[in-house]
Amino acid sequence: MFMLNDFSKQCSKSKLSPLCEQLITASKQAFTVNNGNIPKWEDAISSIKTQAMGALNYAPPYLNIAADIDKVKLEHSLKQLMPWRKGPYQIADLQLDSEWRGDMKWNRAIPHIQSLKGKIVLDVGSGNGYFTYLMALAGAKIALGIEPFLLFNYQFQAIRALINSPPNAFVLPLKLDQIPHEAVFDTVFSMGVLYHQKDHNLHLQQLFSVMTKGGELVLETLIIDQQYGDQIIPEDRYARMRNVWCLPSTNTLHTWLEQAGFSDIKLVDVTKTTPEEQRATHWIGDNTQSLKDFLDPEDNNLTIEGLPAPKRAIFVCQK
Ligand SMILES: C[S@@+](CC[C@H](N)C(=O)[O-])C[C@H]1O[C@@H](n2cnc3c(N)ncnc32)[C@H](O)[C@@H]1O
Repeated sequence: MFMLNDFSKQCSKSKLSPLCEQLITASKQAFTVNNGNIPKWEDAISSIKTQAMGALNYAPPYLNIAADIDKVKLEHSLKQLMPWRKGPYQIADLQLDSEWRGDMKWNRAIPHIQSLKGKIVLDVGSGNGYFTYLMALAGAKIALGIEPFLLFNYQFQAIRALINSPPNAFVLPLKLDQIPHEAVFDTVFSMGVLYHQKDHNLHLQQLFSVMTKGGELVLETLIIDQQYGDQIIPEDRYARMRNVWCLPSTNTLHTWLEQAGFSDIKLVDVTKTTPEEQRATHWIGDNTQSLKDFLDPEDNNLTIEGLPAPKRAIFVCQK
């Protein structure tokens, strides 16, 4: 719980202070679930805490920690926390090459967003906090990631345990609907989350409600080209993912954002996902399939289910 203590200190000094107690209580509660993997993950963290710490910096594509580590021991501990989907990270000369090259998404978004300096930032669906760290390094006063999947919280803590004087980046094991509807966040990121929501309108409304007036939303999600219609609702899986509910066209998504109350809505990027950005590495564990296995082997414009291959849009808009 070392990170919760640090969060509590920073939280109480900021405009998040009315929310701190509720966020911390809900987070403690989430860590008490009965998950058989927790002892293994906690052992990994305990072992990582015996390593030397170092300074964190961004040396693209890696979030880099310059620390004098025992490489073999550290690699063993970090592998107890597989699969590493988000990253990549580098600790001394140990390259933790995650499935995703997060730097590629960050490069697409960052030229289009307001400065994060001094801002209170929320990173919804933060995974292990790769982007949350980048937000803090970009000057956020507090970068708060929320991520209900416990393993990714442990991954965040593993990386944090290696950082000397960590920046004000935190990841709590919460869902967006556990964040009180107080207008306190200056910039909110929802990246790779909307298509996982059964009710996309509710997600957009919840994002709106936690933002300050004049605050900025950075929304990144899967979209389809207009030639396929206004939206596709996958009948079963999409690129082998079970929980994909809706793939809108960019026009449809623009309308959804308007309906949720956002203004100054800008589509700043559309990019097809490539095997350079999403690839199998030895950090993703036994199931070594990645994007190239989820596409039609005859036609990489289609998924294995015959739907349009993954393409992602970034919208930036204001409250
Ligand atoms: C595809 S990952 C995206 C991770 C990262 N934001 C990125 O862009 O690479 C989506 C993450 O959102 C989380 N998630 C899904 N629904 C959520 C919700 N309602 N609130 C917070 N996180 C959520 C999932 O557990 C998952 O880790």
